Amino acid sequence: MPKPHIPLEEIRAQVEGCRRCPLADGRTQTVFGVGNPSARVLIVGEAPGKNEDLQGEPFVGAAGKYLNELLAIAGLRREDVFIANVLKCRSPGNRDPRPEEIELCTPYLREQTRTIDPEFIVTLGNFSTKFILKTEIGITRLHGTLQRAGRFKVFPIFHPAAALYDGSKREALENDFATLGQPLRESDAAAASAQTGGAAAAPAGPGTVGASATPAGAGAGAAQTEPRPDPASHVEQPHLL
Ligand code: URA
Repeated sequence: MPKPHIPLEEIRAQVEGCRRCPLADGRTQTVFGVGNPSARVLIVGEAPGKNEDLQGEPFVGAAGKYLNELLAIAGLRREDVFIANVLKCRSPGNRDPRPEEIELCTPYLREQTRTIDPEFIVTLGNFSTKFILKTEIGITRLHGTLQRAGRFKVFPIFHPAAALYDGSKREALENDFATLGQPLRESDAAAASAQTGGAAAAPAGPGTVGASATPAGAGAGAAQTEPRPDPASHVEQPHLL
């Protein structure tokens, strides 16, 4: 029997009361996530920064403004998607999340994912990509390629903050969001076709996602020295459910 999904408000209450790790001592408040509770697209960042810690909402600073622009490139509005992070609390000085913090905090993200049940998960940066895909392959190689984790289509992209510090990443980020727009449109067309009983737009079936999203044009401008991995070839056991 599959485990019943926990209502989002219940997960939020658990997060708000969480004291599993010392990050709880330094937070102003937890940052649970925001957006459409039944979103087709779940965006997963790294951890709240200063502004997010103060406001209790992910991606509200400069990276958030840029993320909204990037979402528009893919044909998405912020209110259509759900935005969450790997960690729910800010780390001191925004240092990288530690393995034990990820281990203790990600059960919340896992439950959020099960409850929201998105079709697509967009992972921003290395930490969310490595957690969702259970891979050690870095974002520089994976960005802009459609992957799978269990029944979720996963699309890794550089973290928007990376482009704010390193302008050379902007082009890759913007290309990747443009590339993401294509499977989203295909999925829209398939849903519309299923509704009308038409066979016009055949959906990309399970197992064909990687093939349909060979990184054509994706990641143009990215600094790469190694060939891009075959999409979906490296993904280990699905672990989100
Ligand atoms: N960066 C993230 O990864 N998440 C936020 O919420 C803000 C900045």
